Amino acid sequence: MSKKIKVFAPASIGNVSCGFDVLGLAVTQPGDVVEISLNDSGQVTIQSILGDEGRLPLEAAKNTSGVAVIEFLKSIQSNQGVSITLHKNLPLGSGMGCSAASAVAAAVGINELMGSPLKKIDLLPFAMEAERVACGSAHADNAAPSLLGGLILIRENHPLDIIEIPTPKELFCVLVHPHIEVKTRDARSVLKQTISLQDGITQWANTAALVAGMMKEDYELIGRSLVDVVAEPLRADLIPSFNKVKQTALKNGALGCGISGSGPTVFCLCKGRAEAELAGQSIRDVFLNISLENEVFVSEVNRQGAYALIS
Ligand code: HSE
Repeated sequence: MSKKIKVFAPASIGNVSCGFDVLGLAVTQPGDVVEISLNDSGQVTIQSILGDEGRLPLEAAKNTSGVAVIEFLKSIQSNQGVSITLHKNLPLGSGMGCSAASAVAAAVGINELMGSPLKKIDLLPFAMEAERVACGSAHADNAAPSLLGGLILIRENHPLDIIEIPTPKELFCVLVHPHIEVKTRDARSVLKQTISLQDGITQWANTAALVAGMMKEDYELIGRSLVDVVAEPLRADLIPSFNKVKQTALKNGALGCGISGSGPTVFCLCKGRAEAELAGQSIRDVFLNISLENEVFVSEVNRQGAYALIS
């Protein structure tokens, strides 16, 4: 049995506009990398975290990668000693599924090192528990796509019922991360606890149509279904020039555009790489015009989820 492993887990687009808390889509890049090694200490420890500017907790029980490992070991009743090194490539508070990616990579890593006693899908509860520690509620809309890849529908959390939705081959994702931070907790606090019947009807019509558009490879339908009347109108103010960003992206190759997870990252879905590059650049320029530095990531859909890197 190997004693050391390095695992990559991708960023993900939570919600995908209309699918608030129930849809998530994995991208190919960027993502976090977690290195795990076994030892005889009987303890789970975080050896180091690179790329977080010292902001993440080094205490395993408070760090999402540590929590995922602790929960995994609890489930197989093991007191194995584990050391974790986290390469935090995803920006904190970005809405790209940053906390989920570290947890997912750690869960995949420890499972493999322990001889794969669990199937990949059975690792999801450990990443969700880590999400609960990080942001107060156990969403699967980032953890599930980061773990399994592709577009995932979370029909039910308790008991977990998740459905993998096929996505068309030429679908490209754009993530533009403006250099500001929005905490998921804060972005959830601006939401209302109730919505009108009309908004409910609009939202579930679009969610169903988006899934149908993916399955039928109908890009136009995907584009016109990327509408969120529940969270986006209340969160738009948290992102400078969001409405301008969206209009510009739609004029420059995007099928649809919205807030990635709880923001501030903006996402677009496009048909083809060239359209995605164009949309990404157009959004970058809108942010630069208001002196907001940002980073653009263009990628295909990640269809395999988290995976071990050959080191
Ligand atoms: N779906 C949640 C939200 C978590 O939008 O608040 C972020 O992915």
